[in-house]
Amino acid sequence: MLRSTLLFLSQRPGLRRWMETSPIAEPLTHRFVAGQELEDAVAVCRKVNEERIEASLDHLGENVHSMEEAAASRDQVLRSVRAIESQKLRATVSIKLTQFGLDLGTEACRHNLQPLAEAACNAGTRVEVDMEASEYVNRTLQIVRELHHEYGCVRAVIQAYLRRSEEDIRQLNAEGIPVRLCKGAYQEPDEVALPSRDEIDSNYMKLAALLLESGVDPALATHDEAMMKAASTADRTKFEFQMLYGVRRELQRKLTREGYRLRLYVPYGDAWYPYFMRRMAERPANLWFVAQSVLRG
Ligand code: FDA
Repeated sequence: MLRSTLLFLSQRPGLRRWMETSPIAEPLTHRFVAGQELEDAVAVCRKVNEERIEASLDHLGENVHSMEEAAASRDQVLRSVRAIESQKLRATVSIKLTQFGLDLGTEACRHNLQPLAEAACNAGTRVEVDMEASEYVNRTLQIVRELHHEYGCVRAVIQAYLRRSEEDIRQLNAEGIPVRLCKGAYQEPDEVALPSRDEIDSNYMKLAALLLESGVDPALATHDEAMMKAASTADRTKFEFQMLYGVRRELQRKLTREGYRLRLYVPYGDAWYPYFMRRMAERPANLWFVAQSVLRG
């Protein structure tokens, strides 16, 4: 109930505008968001690189309404690719195709993405294409496939809660396209998504096994130690775990001590509200933690 209320609130534009410009934004978000500027994300990235953890920089922002906005989003991500290259950061970039104009047309989005894919490949990094709500899955995978075949430095994201995901993973594995597997963070109807936590978890385990067996450079994105067990007998050099900045920091340290490869998803930027609310929905207990930080100032 609280989870769906938080997800519902995450989609209210008026509330979003109010929250993102409010003076409590910084104390509210600093545990989960690196900061408003690229420099803040770079600083976090350097710090985690020193701890042998890699990063994926995410310039926050979702659906855009014009190609000008989409081009501006692309330019922001291009800046992070240049920072990765010039400062020799061990990091990829993560993007959402709705930020790149997917709602304005597949062709427009593809066109906007090409310079980024080219720059990322030349910089020796990779573009990880986040997966959004189910209505975008076909178009997102189509674009990822095209970028993979043209440039080669992309990673798709598959959500274990979707009923279609096994088939998608088999196809992506066959094409040699790297995949990040996550449980899935959006509210979906039962026809497209598994309704119970147990079913999602058992699908996650099954899909993780498929990726570890025949995937290329797979990433298991989760904070759930039960899911991590899917990789307990796998070669540690052949896959990576991915976790979100600020979430389960003790577990992050434990994984690196044990010699696992770990990448942290590091969000930054001023459009933090939907991302932040999805994190609260995943673990409403965080609301208490966040309220304490705000009260402390
Ligand atoms: P689960 O939610 O069951 O949590 C397992 C344990 O971790 C619990 O103990 C829980 O308390 C703790 N935990 C989980 N979330 C927490 C939080 N926010 N704060 C504190 N503790 C928390 N989704 C999507 O739809 N598209 C995408 O592209 C991505 N990309 C992505 C990248 C990376 C690197 C990660 C880690 C996650 C995503 N996700 C995502 C989000 C993902 O789908 C999912 O919603 C969250 O990871 C929560 O699921 P867990 O697997 O962590 O398990």
